[in-house]
Amino acid sequence: MAAPAPSSADFAKGLAGVVAGRTAICSLDGTLRYRGYDIEPLATAGSFEEVAWLLLHGDLPTKHQRDDFQGRLAAAARDLPTAVLEALARLAQESPQASVMDALRTGISMLGLVERDDTPGNQAALLAQAERLLGQTPAILAAWIDLTTGCSPAAWPDGPIAKALLQRLMRREPSPAEVAIFGTTLVLYAEHEFNASTFAARTVASTGSDMHSAITAAIGALKGPLHGGANEKVLEVLGEIGTPERVDAWVHEQFAAKRVVMGFGHRVYKDGDVRAKLLGAMCRAMVQGTEAEGLEVLADRIERIMLERKALKPNLDWPAARVYHALGLPVKVFTPIFVVARMSGWTSHVIEQIGDNRIIRPLSVYAGAAPRDYVPLEARG
Ligand code: COA
Repeated sequence: MAAPAPSSADFAKGLAGVVAGRTAICSLDGTLRYRGYDIEPLATAGSFEEVAWLLLHGDLPTKHQRDDFQGRLAAAARDLPTAVLEALARLAQESPQASVMDALRTGISMLGLVERDDTPGNQAALLAQAERLLGQTPAILAAWIDLTTGCSPAAWPDGPIAKALLQRLMRREPSPAEVAIFGTTLVLYAEHEFNASTFAARTVASTGSDMHSAITAAIGALKGPLHGGANEKVLEVLGEIGTPERVDAWVHEQFAAKRVVMGFGHRVYKDGDVRAKLLGAMCRAMVQGTEAEGLEVLADRIERIMLERKALKPNLDWPAARVYHALGLPVKVFTPIFVVARMSGWTSHVIEQIGDNRIIRPLSVYAGAAPRDYVPLEARG
């Protein structure tokens, strides 16, 4: 017999405020911490590889472990399966305008097909899959950009992911300062507890499905503008407003039309996103005296108005979009870069879910038609 039907008083729209599980990977209580470490030193002094190792293994790596890990990630980036690259090349020819997020989702799904998992649920095999995905994802992103601009995929450069990916996307050697701030964005984007995409990944993993299926679902969830897609929308918004004088009227229009302003608000942080504060300050320092400074004037004004009118503060996507723009990256790679970073969080959560699993299957409150009798097709008007 089914459990008693829940009443509508029992449900929280969008699961707001619902505790849906336990995790040892990340906490948002007071400030953001990965495995107990405050986000600030991780973001300013740590590398993406260190943080990805920390999320996957629970502790910071030794230098030796970090170096080996970095080498394995670079090897995975260099060694994309030929079948996947050939299929991407064909797809890039057919659909060069496709969303880069769709290309990444498809690429990861194809990896799941060609890299057969013979040891489902085995911890060591899951960690090896996670490592490969961490290297393969930025390589697929860079290859897709090459393929859709008429180039054959260039070789994956030496060095850590932040430097190598930036170099591939910029098609030039980035400066140490550029690599540093780009690396900070990867660390800040790496993990965020039970956000929509991570929850999607955990839900898929909870059914006993495989790593690649869980990650493919997560990429689909991240694409939405209310989640990761917001960083691309932020730059569209800044471009649409154009000048500081237009800010007031534009914001007024959004409120009147009951539209959300991208890059503001958060389900969990109601008093501001610690990551946005950190990266916002770095972004302002980075663009001082450059062409991108004009955008900061616009951004400051929008921030002030959002605070005054709605008491809303920026989330991480707000400064991240401006940093990527200042680095000269095209808008279409902003959310895919988020995928590269969050791969560390997603794979850690999939492994954690599998390690202590119960299928995720909530209830709903029925709000449809009252019980009624079936009418045979011939008898229907
Ligand atoms: N612009 C304008 N109003 C906003 C807003 C925004 N960015 N974010 C929230 N609000 C409003 C809501 O409409 C709601 O108003 P109401 O009480 O009149 O209905 C109120 O603020 C409270 O919002 P809340 O219900 O707490 O938001 P949520 O938790 O359901 O949604 C987001 C969280 C992130 C989806 C939402 O803030 C949003 O859409 N932000 C823009 C997209 C974005 O930047 N996403 C990236 C998130 S990291």
